[in-house]
This record gives sequence, C-alpha cells and structure tokens, in this order.
Amino acid sequence: MHQDEQKALVANEAVSLILQEISAGEILGIGTGSTVNLFIDALAPYTKHFKGVVSSSEASTARLQGYGFLVFDANEVNDLIAYVDGADEINPRGEMMKGGGGALTREKIVAAMSNQFICICDSSKQVATLGKFPLPIEVIPLSSAHIQRLLEKKWGGKVSLRTVKNQASEIFVTDNGAWILDVSDLKIEHPKEFEMELNQIPGVICNGIFALNPANTLIVSSSAGVKRINY
Ligand code: A5P
Repeated sequence: MHQDEQKALVANEAVSLILQEISAGEILGIGTGSTVNLFIDALAPYTKHFKGVVSSSEASTARLQGYGFLVFDANEVNDLIAYVDGADEINPRGEMMKGGGGALTREKIVAAMSNQFICICDSSKQVATLGKFPLPIEVIPLSSAHIQRLLEKKWGGKVSLRTVKNQASEIFVTDNGAWILDVSDLKIEHPKEFEMELNQIPGVICNGIFALNPANTLIVSSSAGVKRINY
C-alpha cells in the first residue's frame, strides 16, 4: 500500500474514533502536516458536530476555514477535548519528534491545552529510539549562531539553519517570526531529560521533542491495515 493511502487510512480512522468518543459541541485541537491535511478533509462533512477548533498553524487554519470550521484563537478557550496531529517519529512510549513542518511551538501549546493527544501516522514513523529524524529547534533569530555552537560542542549534533524548500538562500521563518535549527546525528535515549535541558538554553523558543506530554493514543497504518494503540 502506498504511503499516501496509509495516511488516508489513519485520517479516516481518527475521524471514526472522534465521532464515536467525543460528544457534539466540543472544541478540538488540530495539528499540522500532510497526514493532518487528510484528517481535516475527512472531518469536513462533520463541521456541525463541533463547536469549533483550535489550530496549530496558519496553513491548517486556512484549510479548516475553507471547510467552514469555526477556528478559535487559543486564548479564547480554556481547554480542548483532544488534539489530533502527526509526528515525524514516535517511540514505543508514545514520545514523539515533531516540527518537520515548522509548526512545533504552536503544536506543543495546543497539545498542552488538550485532554488527550491522538497521534496519526504511518508505520514508517515508528522508531525504537528518537533521533534519526533531525531534531527541529525553534529559536530567536539573534541567538541562532550561539545555540548552533552549543549544540555542536555539547551534544555533537550536526546543525543546519532551516531554509525554504528549494530556495537555499532564503531562511525559513516560522508563523511566530522565528528560525529553526535542524539537528542531526543525535541518539535521544532520554527524551524527557533532553527536552527539559534544551528548554533551558537562552534563545530557544521550543524544541521538537514531545516526551513530557506524549501521545495518549496512536492510530498507525501499515500495509497490513490500521490499528489503535493506547499508552
Ligand atoms: C509539523 O510541524 C509536524 O510536527 C508534523 O506533525 C509532522 O512533521 C508530521 O507531518 P506529516 O504528516 O506531513 O508527515
């Protein structure tokens, strides 16, 4: 089965789960990425089931509004019944690496507001140890060179400043007006500790390790079909 078909499978399964388990009139948190785009498409016939949504990126907001969902600002709501998002990597404890699409900070904020995190992905994202995918770290622009040196010296990571796809001379700017450092050559054996340690570096806005607040449920697909895992 092609990867896009596997993504569509988890998107549809997440819609079934939500319609089964979440009563009408709630506000749902919605993430970012190609798998989430398929989830939004599959959820579109059910706009009336929800009071509204909170989104983790401008891109997802535009897609949701295109289908008629009421998109609340995060400051307008107290908490969210659930948050649905993809991942770049997920380990057997539900700890994730995220931010390949550059929306990690808003994703972590909306996830923190939510009662449960439902991760949707295909089985290529399942790993034993996080770190094969380069770790995204969103930083205040004037701190980026200092943080790059620190990451290389202290953790031996290979760091690159993210640029716009197919435009190597143009720095990628996040929805928050910040930059992203992508760190490869890391083997993240203790994700919670590393997530906390990175958060202490001045200039770091957010890092792409989601271990302190991991997934509660994983909906994952492979050529064998789709399954749900609760952590
Ligand atoms: C966006 O910033 C990311 O965290 C995405 O959730 C993650 O990259 C998964 O994206 P895909 O569904 O496109 O693989």
